[in-house]
Amino acid sequence: MIQGQVFGLFPTPLGQYKLPPLTKAEYKFVIGQENKVNRFNKISVTKSILEDKCIASLKTNIEHCLTEYLKEAVSSDPNLKLRITQSWANYTGVGEHHHEHTHANSVISGVYYVQTLDTDSINFHDKERTSYHWEVNPPELHPYNAPSWQLSTPQDCLMLFPSYLKHSVSSRQTKDKNASDRISISFNTFYTGAIGSDDGATRLVLS
Ligand SMILES: [Fe+2]
Repeated sequence: MIQGQVFGLFPTPLGQYKLPPLTKAEYKFVIGQENKVNRFNKISVTKSILEDKCIASLKTNIEHCLTEYLKEAVSSDPNLKLRITQSWANYTGVGEHHHEHTHANSVISGVYYVQTLDTDSINFHDKERTSYHWEVNPPELHPYNAPSWQLSTPQDCLMLFPSYLKHSVSSRQTKDKNASDRISISFNTFYTGAIGSDDGATRLVLS
């Protein structure tokens, strides 16, 4: 009898955290942001929404999750830290979608879901695998063979992922034509302090 196994090598770390819901005042602050068209949905004019004191507790909770994610997915070194660089809100109405994209000039990116329906979701795309030439039409998709993976986006949930990971939002479908916009807050991060080593000629000091 031959024994063997298939195991995942180099998996992509995706963080999912349930945060406390926003207060009415915090929610009002987010939905009241001035916004503009961003190709197929809308984006806030501000790119520093998490710096506003109106949602300071959300920023604190996100920073806590970033620390946990770093510890688990990157390094247990307590001196390794990330800071939030830019942050903005996304507003996606019924029939609108968010194009495929990555977040350049960022280490870890995240999305916090302020307002969603049960049917709302996010798609993550495997950049390497989608460039494959082969099409074998497997009867079942799983994390090894799927070119993309859809995850539901419950309200008050935070997702963290490497910024190079391509993602998108499919056209938003619901029978309720008057459904509220799907609202999320996205952000980018970068290392702060010193990383790398002198000996390896990789030392980088970031303020
Ligand atoms: Fe994004």
